[in-house]
Amino acid sequence: MLDLFKESKGDHLLPVREEELSDQAVIAELHQLKKELGDRVCVLGHHYQSNEIIQFADIRGDSLALAKHAAEAEAEYIVFCGVHFMAETADMLTGPEQSVILPDLNAGCSMADMAQSEGILKCWQQTAEASSDTVVPITYINCSAELKAFVGDHGGAICTSSNARKVIEWAFEQGQKLLFFPDQHLGRNTCFEMGVGLDEMVVYDPNQYQGGLTTEELKKAKVILWYGYCSVHQGFTAEQIDNVKQEKPNTTVIVHPECSFEVVQAADLAGSTSYILEQIEAAASGSSFAVGTEINLVNRLAEQFPDKDIFSLSPYQCLCTTMYRVRPRWLLASFRSMVQNKPINVIKVPDSTTESSLKALERMLAI
Ligand code: 13P
Ligand code: SF4
Repeated sequence: MLDLFKESKGDHLLPVREEELSDQAVIAELHQLKKELGDRVCVLGHHYQSNEIIQFADIRGDSLALAKHAAEAEAEYIVFCGVHFMAETADMLTGPEQSVILPDLNAGCSMADMAQSEGILKCWQQTAEASSDTVVPITYINCSAELKAFVGDHGGAICTSSNARKVIEWAFEQGQKLLFFPDQHLGRNTCFEMGVGLDEMVVYDPNQYQGGLTTEELKKAKVILWYGYCSVHQGFTAEQIDNVKQEKPNTTVIVHPECSFEVVQAADLAGSTSYILEQIEAAASGSSFAVGTEINLVNRLAEQFPDKDIFSLSPYQCLCTTMYRVRPRWLLASFRSMVQNKPINVIKVPDSTTESSLKALERMLAI
């Protein structure tokens, strides 16, 4: 876990529960305080947030859209209803007079936690020693501020699920080898789509001696994928796609690129959360979609487009439990603290980390 995460814990107030407010009372007070705060607050909500939270979002979107909105927002308080790395990114993109608030500091991302500094440095050194190729590090935005800073300091860039291909194309203009953090699936799926063979990619597993790779394997590889994954998207399988195709042959299977290679290959379409939304929105009335992504988004799509048959690809609950930690009571505690001008759960990335990370973020925004 990040140091700054631990440090911020001192400010972490209990959720609003001392008065045993009913759920309705919490929602009513949230509406009232949101009105009272007016332009002082901008609430950003990721597509995976529950409806109870999304109703308070001024902007909802995927990771890229929310990062861009954070950069443009003028409000004094940016409340990020998402996970920790998103709030960190927003803090880096906002001014020093603005505060970014994460309603629950425990809303992390298990994938982001899979890439820690010590392993990253070892992997970098080992790769550099294995060959004289120029290695370009690229990280998916779902990672710690420290990893973003490392990538920024080593000539690399950040990507999201909606611009991964463009960023990787850019990386191959800068060097011969790509080191992709932390989601092996997004890296593999995107590189394969660009024509890189599976035999040109290796997986570096920080839990194994020397990443589980020989010097020869590292030397030969064009793409080195970090062994990270999203536990929510790993829940989707190619077998589920076969079942859907047998039961409902006219159904379009649409998945997020954090799903495994087999799933993305078997699906009809793959793309970011916004891409999924746009495809479903544009489809004709009566069409059917099996969706391989987080359940809150799937349920919302089904409600939003009742003329279409929209359901989860998986029969199991694919809930991002850390996203779900942002609950109305926590949001209310944040709103109350802002009204009192004593904001809690403020995410503050150290200046030196921000400076290095911004190099990688700005490269992404320029690509
Ligand atoms: P996007 O919204 O960018 O597609 O990302 C999905 C995700 O897993 C965020 O954590
Ligand atoms: Fe992280 Fe997966 Fe949750 Fe996205 S869905 S925040 S990648 S754990």
